[in-house]
Amino acid sequence: MKVNGGTQEPGDSPEAKAEAMRAMFASIAHRYDLLNSVLSLNQDRYWRASAAAACGVKPGGRALDVACGTGRLTLELARLVGREGRVVGLDFCPEMLARARENLERVPLGETVELVAGEAIDLSFPDGCFDAAAIGFALRTVPDPERTIAEMARVVRPGGRVVSLELAKPELPVLKQAHSLYLRRVVPLVGRWGVGFTGPYDFLSMSLEHFPPRDQVRELFVRQGLVDVQYTELTGGIVTVHSGAKPQPS
Ligand SMILES: C[S@@+](CC[C@H](N)C(=O)[O-])C[C@H]1O[C@@H](n2cnc3c(N)ncnc32)[C@H](O)[C@@H]1O
Repeated sequence: MKVNGGTQEPGDSPEAKAEAMRAMFASIAHRYDLLNSVLSLNQDRYWRASAAAACGVKPGGRALDVACGTGRLTLELARLVGREGRVVGLDFCPEMLARARENLERVPLGETVELVAGEAIDLSFPDGCFDAAAIGFALRTVPDPERTIAEMARVVRPGGRVVSLELAKPELPVLKQAHSLYLRRVVPLVGRWGVGFTGPYDFLSMSLEHFPPRDQVRELFVRQGLVDVQYTELTGGIVTVHSGAKPQPS
């Protein structure tokens, strides 16, 4: 796997891999929102709103956004829990968190969000302290998706939900081919136009190749002991929202 223009190799230590990944996200943070809107043809707000809705949080609730990036899913969660609620956005990239801070300062409810630096596979929160935990477009970039979902399940209370919003491969024949072409040709080109160099958007696009299909992601949720595990396909299946609930003690 190569990220950041080729600074990461398969034999690197986990720390070196994490550092290369962090550097890659730091290098695109200033253009991340613009490229998200362009590359998704402005569908991204709807995708994040759908993922936030799948969290099932109510006014006054508590939600965690893991790998929050520039804070756009975090804000959708803040809209649902309102002023009486609590939303925390966590990310390991300071440049992404700085963008999130700027974005949130500009909007109503933004000041209610708490942003923290942290690692998705080792969450620094006590068990059961959130009503829901979400992760948006990041399960395919964390070093261990299974452990990330396990951590999210740990910090959610019994009955609370764990949600992942992620890119997926559509199955309808024509859309499937068009999507594959889009990922291989258009995304790297637009990424290069946006950030001025190749690497990050080639990687983000190609990382979908190695990401497990929907049913395997569903199984991953089930293996962490989550129940009522379901997924919804959005925009012809190019994006999927998986969700599961932490069981109530019997
Ligand atoms: C593709 S962006 C997604 C950002 C945001 N969730 C969204 O909806 O746009 C992936 C984010 O995951 C963060 N990230 C990747 N690996 C991480 C890890 N191991 N721990 C914490 N954050 C991580 C990156 O810094 C980046 O902000």
